[in-house]
Amino acid sequence: MVIHNNDKEMTVKKSSLQEARSAYQPKLPKALKGAVKASEGAPTQSVGNQDEIKALFPNTYGMPVVEFVPGEAAAAEAFNVGVILSGGQAPGGHNVISGLFDGLKSLNPDCRLYGFLMGPGGLVDHKYIEITPALIDEYRNTGGFDIIGSGRTKLEEVDQFESGIKILRELGIKALVIIGGDDSNTNACVLAEYYAAKNYGVQVIGCPKTIDGDLKNDQIETSFGFDTACKTYSELIGNIERDCNSARKYWHFVKLMGRSASHIALECALQTQPNICLISEEVEASGQSLDDIVSYIADVVAKRAEQGNNFGTVLIPEGIIEFIPSIKKLIGELNDVLATDEAKGIARENQIDYVKAHLSADNLAQFNSLPIDVASQLALDRDPHGNVQVSLIETEKLLSRMVAAKLKGMKAEGKYCGKFSAQHHFFGYEGRCATPSNFDADYCYSLGYNATRLIAEGKTGYMSVIKNTTAPAENWIAGGVPITMMMNLEKRSGKMKPVIRKALVETDGAPFKFFAANREKWAYEDCYTYPGPIQYWGPSEVCDLPTKTLQLEKQ
Ligand code: FBP
Repeated sequence: MVIHNNDKEMTVKKSSLQEARSAYQPKLPKALKGAVKASEGAPTQSVGNQDEIKALFPNTYGMPVVEFVPGEAAAAEAFNVGVILSGGQAPGGHNVISGLFDGLKSLNPDCRLYGFLMGPGGLVDHKYIEITPALIDEYRNTGGFDIIGSGRTKLEEVDQFESGIKILRELGIKALVIIGGDDSNTNACVLAEYYAAKNYGVQVIGCPKTIDGDLKNDQIETSFGFDTACKTYSELIGNIERDCNSARKYWHFVKLMGRSASHIALECALQTQPNICLISEEVEASGQSLDDIVSYIADVVAKRAEQGNNFGTVLIPEGIIEFIPSIKKLIGELNDVLATDEAKGIARENQIDYVKAHLSADNLAQFNSLPIDVASQLALDRDPHGNVQVSLIETEKLLSRMVAAKLKGMKAEGKYCGKFSAQHHFFGYEGRCATPSNFDADYCYSLGYNATRLIAEGKTGYMSVIKNTTAPAENWIAGGVPITMMMNLEKRSGKMKPVIRKALVETDGAPFKFFAANREKWAYEDCYTYPGPIQYWGPSEVCDLPTKTLQLEKQ
């Protein structure tokens, strides 16, 4: 990473697109142009476990939803703000920071913005830079998080909060903006509560980031980055479909990022109309086993072979393995087994044996039935939030191997007469730092700008939200939602913890229903669509449209 010296000129050579794109002025909703005031709704409740969440967040529970409406211009005193990028990269992060920067300067040109380096760890370790006008101009409308870097340090311990307050006071910071996914915003809320309880006078505001699209609910329409990442993957999938339709000799197995939720896979399916797309949430709802999934794919392959089509494209959400009911049960027990102090003290090379000795008979049988690489991944590696690192499991290879074996059996029984040759892909990192689409560029800028208005209103424990996002940007609605409103209790690392409820694909929601109504046709009649690369200039229906998921949800 480049750690910037603000006085030095940037020396990195820019591409022509970067040069041209730096001049793009993101659209701001008219609700944020000019002076605003907060219109407040009724007190709110958490989505679940109300009594427990209220008891855990006595200072930040029950606050109203806020919407900005035109207000009277008033001189604001200068103040300083800190910003943190947390977790996986998502296109548009730099525009959130640009929006913050411009929003602050519009309140008072003497306001200053500090960026903590490499994620929440920068706050704890007091590593920061000041975001100057020259620096921010280098990063407007660019992908990546490299302006200050990102990290996955989990902010949850009192000594981290206390270390943070020292540097916040030293820099005269009145508010901290944490740009992150569900886990990071949960931590933002815990920090807001702690600082409020201690009367430290520092506000904490969250911003909804993640390519996974799983940070959404009645109040948040979409997380930023989902739009650009899905469009980037869909371009690649479209190219693969065209290649596969041209050569007519490969089955392409494409795994897509997204953690537990299948939003990315579903959105890419809506954009590219592949022969098969698996949806983890449906697998769970219909209680499918690994063998059911393999049989489903093998049947489509065999039927297409009868038509003379020994090719096709299969989309696989990276979290699918967790949703197969028997494997989900196994992961649940593994989490409990691994959460004990005794387990934490076991050397890594002995952990598999330890786990096997502690699993119940059913789960042990399931564990032993998995290929060793998959079983080890489930047992050994967790991210700092306790999540299984599904992106490290090569599900695309596992499934294609199992499909090949099933087809061999079918051939022996005279039920399959084709040729099966597979290619494998994993799309995830390819899209996380893409140059933000117009949607993400505008949405992110608005989220950042809006956060400064929440700060000016003295809010803490709120998430910056922009709604009505299928309308033209100037009609978007700006405001804030108390983070406690999105919380419930869930088991993490063996203990019940307050967390923001993750949004999974709803099998009765419009995007899934549209997919389900069309997938049979897409399986056998090649209906591939080729979205092509993201366009930044041109007709609005090519450049500005939000995801199909959002369009279907808002129909
Ligand atoms: P966030 O949840 O932090 O937004 O990260 C999203 C993601 O890209 C997932 O889709 C993926 O499983 C994970 O990050 C990969 O993590 P890492 O960047 O640590 O390899």
